[in-house]
Amino acid sequence: MWPLQRSLAAPRLGNLLLLGVLVLLVGPSQTGGQPQAFKIFYAPDWGLTHLAIHNKTGEVYVGSVNWIFKLSSNLTKLRSHMTGPVVDNEKCYPPPSVQSCPHDLAQTSNVNKLLLIDYAQNRLIACGSTSQGICQFLRLDDLFKLGEPHHRKEHYLSSVAESGTMSGVIITSPHGPPSKLFIGTPIDGKSEYFPTLSSRKLMENEENADMFSFVYQDEFVSSQLKIPSDTLSKFPAFDIYYIYSFSSEQFVYYLTMQLDTQLTSPDASGEQFFTSKIVRLCVDDPKFYSYVEFPIGCTKDGVEYRLIQDAYLSRPGKQLADSLNISEDEDILFTVFSQGQKNRAKPPKESALCLFTLRRIKEKIKERIQSCYRGEGRLSLPWLLNKELACINSVSPATLITPLISI
Ligand SMILES: *[C@@H]1O[C@H](CO)[C@@H](O)[C@H](O)[C@H]1NC(C)=O
Ligand SMILES: *[C@@H]1O[C@H](CO)[C@@H](O)[C@H](O)[C@H]1NC(C)=O
Ligand SMILES: *[C@@H]1O[C@H](CO)[C@@H](O)[C@H](O)[C@H]1NC(C)=O
Repeated sequence: MWPLQRSLAAPRLGNLLLLGVLVLLVGPSQTGGQPQAFKIFYAPDWGLTHLAIHNKTGEVYVGSVNWIFKLSSNLTKLRSHMTGPVVDNEKCYPPPSVQSCPHDLAQTSNVNKLLLIDYAQNRLIACGSTSQGICQFLRLDDLFKLGEPHHRKEHYLSSVAESGTMSGVIITSPHGPPSKLFIGTPIDGKSEYFPTLSSRKLMENEENADMFSFVYQDEFVSSQLKIPSDTLSKFPAFDIYYIYSFSSEQFVYYLTMQLDTQLTSPDASGEQFFTSKIVRLCVDDPKFYSYVEFPIGCTKDGVEYRLIQDAYLSRPGKQLADSLNISEDEDILFTVFSQGQKNRAKPPKESALCLFTLRRIKEKIKERIQSCYRGEGRLSLPWLLNKELACINSVSPATLITPLISI
């Protein structure tokens, strides 16, 4: 049966990183039979925000406040690159480096918000919180700065300084460049500046004027989804936080948290409730017509855990696969949820580790889309008011996707 204790408190991956410590257990095979102490990378003054591990070299790239680090696979620091503080004011749009700004400027810490390895071009993409969220391209080898595009509106991805709220996936085209960068970000009420979800061209040359431009754009549609102003006037605090993302087959997935517009009263006087959703888009859908979202969460001993904290897509080892009676080749989404639906910014400490098979998630989405074609319910996009897709008659909401197991 399941080997872990039922009462196991799941680690909150994001918070662990924020402590500024990276820990690696060195197995016996690497140390000649003797299990050794933990390897530790300690960055006392900086909260660590993101981590990317090179799939061939095992080298570790770490994003933090004002710094990007490159570590060897044994966590020895090899390189560091400074990204801040920067003279900035978050109210300036465009940023002061491009146009003078009426607000007071101050030295502002640059929080790393997105850290991705662009394997096709051998570079790291590191997006920060300053200058409305511009990104640096760094050479993987030595973190040499290759470019920092910041002259066009599309270069500004988000002004939100909170880490762990923005997420991206690079899709390398089999037909050669440009690759695509799918970006999900909260917008802090500024829907006129920032789409919440978009796909951008990732040009080979960092100075190319098309860098980060929308994959598709004509007079009427483009590769982006904006939070409608109607939604924001009804729910001024409405936003979507992108906790984790990945691609599988022809799809890009996001695990998100958003204000629950059905439970929260519009006048902002009462308590705010949040809900977690899994969002899916087809990789080859430049007009975003394939967008779907589904509630996701778990229940343990009758208690609901609905606030997604972190996730990771991986395969199970043999022991786990056997104990769950699934194949070792099955994709598993490991997720950590906090209890309840309140206090997004300061979630309750009570949490659950829940495992979903990607196969089951795909089946649920397929079932839902098929039943929608039969006219049952809605495609559950309560926040996209003008795009609410009623499936003809009934009002049954999309049912919650539930895990294989919750611990
Ligand atoms: C590493 O990841 C890239 C991008 O996803 C992929 O193209 C490449 O095949 C991977 N390499 C290895 C050794 O897994
Ligand atoms: C850790 O990695 C570095 C760089 O790859 C290497 O020089 C060093 O010998 C390694 N240290 C240990 C203890 O394995
Ligand atoms: C394990 O899975 C197989 C195939 O999915 C099924 O036939 C079998 O009954 C399952 N065994 C248990 C103990 O659930």
